[in-house]
Amino acid sequence: MVWAITHHDTLQQLLADPRVGKNAQLWDTFREGRLPKGWPLLNFITVPGMTTADGEDHRRLRGLVSQAFTPRRVAALQPRIELLTERLLDRVALLDGEFDLRKHFAYPLPMQVIGELLGLPPQQQDELHALSDTLVSSSATPDAAIAAQADLYALLGGLAEAKRAEPGDDLTTALIAAREVDDRLSERELVGTLLLMLVAGHETTLNLITNAVRALLAHPEQLRQVLDGTYEWSAVVEETLRYDSPVGQFPLRYATEDIEVGGVLIRRGEAMLASYAAAGRDDAHYPDADRFDLSRQPGRHLSLGHGPHFCLGSGLARLEAETALRGLFGRFPSLALADGPAPAPIPSFVGNSVRTLPVRAR
Ligand code: HEM
Repeated sequence: MVWAITHHDTLQQLLADPRVGKNAQLWDTFREGRLPKGWPLLNFITVPGMTTADGEDHRRLRGLVSQAFTPRRVAALQPRIELLTERLLDRVALLDGEFDLRKHFAYPLPMQVIGELLGLPPQQQDELHALSDTLVSSSATPDAAIAAQADLYALLGGLAEAKRAEPGDDLTTALIAAREVDDRLSERELVGTLLLMLVAGHETTLNLITNAVRALLAHPEQLRQVLDGTYEWSAVVEETLRYDSPVGQFPLRYATEDIEVGGVLIRRGEAMLASYAAAGRDDAHYPDADRFDLSRQPGRHLSLGHGPHFCLGSGLARLEAETALRGLFGRFPSLALADGPAPAPIPSFVGNSVRTLPVRAR
């Protein structure tokens, strides 16, 4: 049994409830071997790392990378993010008027940032992105998802080997030191953590930038108010997070005891899906929730999570998105959606965005 938690208040309560865990062993259906062979979400719910750990294990795994994401460390990345943004815009300016904003701008910026943080060779980034897309794809065959995970482990294992031979000033080297000097994580956890940082570090912000540009271009009067200084770019980022959550849903959590919530009994051993996109559109919490509205009081949305698993990269994601939007509309204030049919949604069981965002830079 899997419950989708779609109401804001119920989701907020369960995300912080100590009776809810993330280790798949807590799920009766998993523990008793009742999942069908090749079940596509299996890889995701068993990745060895902080997203599938609870309590002390979770604190240990999260603690190993949290130093890289303190507000001070994130703020220090700002000049680099600005430079990468400007370089991408220089390239975009050479494209012939119309281009796919997702492919040429929203994707490479966060990929380059997380790539530099992890020390990934730039020439591997596109391959890693394609594999990570397959890992969270709702349309890949089970065999393709399993093969993608194997390839990702091999590539990231290779990265760890390369950093062992030649340490760098990056997070991968710091994780290797934590493993080798005082044995704070296993080899599987090392590679699992690299995988998590790669996927969480770019697929999400890619969606946020895409969704924010799409919302602004569909609401030109509000875009004008941002450009004339009525609203801050941070308001655009927060309203986009609520209105079109880049993480649509996150599998899975499990009840460690019977839990009564919102008039429903979730039994011990049952699973829950954190439905972030639905919670952002909950009319009981946000008046007229389907309206993109920059004048909303910044009430706390849940789209970066809540409780012990609150997004570790939230500061970085916000900085990247604000920098990207300010740079993009500073360069192309008359950017518009290209003519054509509405783009299709991405086939992902985690992400929420569109496959392409064709725009016209006049
Ligand atoms: C717009 C961008 C982002 C969004 C919307 C987002 C959203 C989220 C959400 C909803 C969760 C909680 C998942 C759950 O347990 O239900 C989460 C966790 C996490 N995020 Fe983000 N994220 C973003 C960017 C990033 C970035 C840039 C990084 C890293 C560089 C990152 C790293 C993580 C990690 C490591 C976790 C797991 C934390 C834990 O289990 O303790 N995220 N994120």
